[in-house]
Amino acid sequence: MGNRLTETNLRWRAVVRGVGAYLPHRCMSNAELAATVETSDEWIVQRTGITQRYIAAPDETTSVLATHAARAALSNAGVDANDIDLVIVATSTPDYTFPATATQVQAALGIRHGAAFDLQAVCSGFVFALATAEKFIRSGSHRRVLVIGAETFSRLLDWTDRTTCVLFGDGAGAVVLEGEDGGNAFKDGGIISTHLRSDGRFRDKLFVDGGPGSNGMTGHLRMEGRDVFRHAVGMIEDVVTAAFAESGITADDLDWFVPHQANRRIIDASAVKLGVAPSKVVATVQLHANTSAASIPLALATACGDGRIKKGNLVMLEAMGGGFTWGSALVRW
Ligand code: UT7
Repeated sequence: MGNRLTETNLRWRAVVRGVGAYLPHRCMSNAELAATVETSDEWIVQRTGITQRYIAAPDETTSVLATHAARAALSNAGVDANDIDLVIVATSTPDYTFPATATQVQAALGIRHGAAFDLQAVCSGFVFALATAEKFIRSGSHRRVLVIGAETFSRLLDWTDRTTCVLFGDGAGAVVLEGEDGGNAFKDGGIISTHLRSDGRFRDKLFVDGGPGSNGMTGHLRMEGRDVFRHAVGMIEDVVTAAFAESGITADDLDWFVPHQANRRIIDASAVKLGVAPSKVVATVQLHANTSAASIPLALATACGDGRIKKGNLVMLEAMGGGFTWGSALVRW
């Protein structure tokens, strides 16, 4: 005999209601960067696909970018901010060590109820936040959740280090998730599966050399890029094939593949390895560089906005980043 909890567990699907994004005004081209550090447009484009990135103004903190993206997602969803009962911000560049950036977004949106917290999984942050939100919704405890990925990585960069400063940018993206009663995510829409992984042994490959608990500094991003690249494709394959195995779907069944936007070569190599046709790959890294936790919702907002991703489409999201962390989310739009 079922009890209240198991019945509730089976009832709710987490459906994507709307998507939004925001980029700061200031756009920095490769040529502009090449004037300050020994690099070239040709090298950056050939090795990464990146042509430009956006840089937040001093008063544009992560919560400011996140709030703009959240407003756009709420408007796209036709949902009032007051109907949101949970705000999750995936970020590694919070406004302050505390309080959580999510609480500042909650306040800016005028939400006076529910809960708000940050989640930190670096470039995998959006996938981890989406998985977290899905579990809150599926449990029946929360009905409408704002899931935001927002970053000001420009504040963490060592602008004299050409091996990292050319790769990252600032931005934010958001989705509104809503619990729908009954049905089946695979057929009726919603998050079908999520697979999350972490392995802290890889810290030194990609990290920030500061923090309140170590040296009391913000620190700078440090990366062994070649090693990260070497691991990335295998990790992406791991979580995407896990989603395929669990759901019984294949790469051919996917309508869209929306990867974390770090490097065009990683995106293309992953698609080839997984057997995803190039025409199904959503790539926006060329326009905003690697925005860490913001990159997937930025790509989603682009592909939903231009009509590529439509209701009923089967969409695979994946990401890999510092930690290492990596994850996938399979979604029926
Ligand atoms: O979000 C997840 C986290 N990050 C990533 O996914 C990044 C993963 N890694 C990468 O995307 C690539 O490894 C990079 C784009 C970082 C580098 O590309 P690569 O093809 O692996 O280049 P490399 O590190 O092997 O460097 C090749 C050469 C080196 O010179 P030498 O040793 O061959 O003389 C570098 O010093 O390119 C040099 N180089 C540059 N040259 C011009 C490194 N950075 C630059 C630069 N401009 N910005």
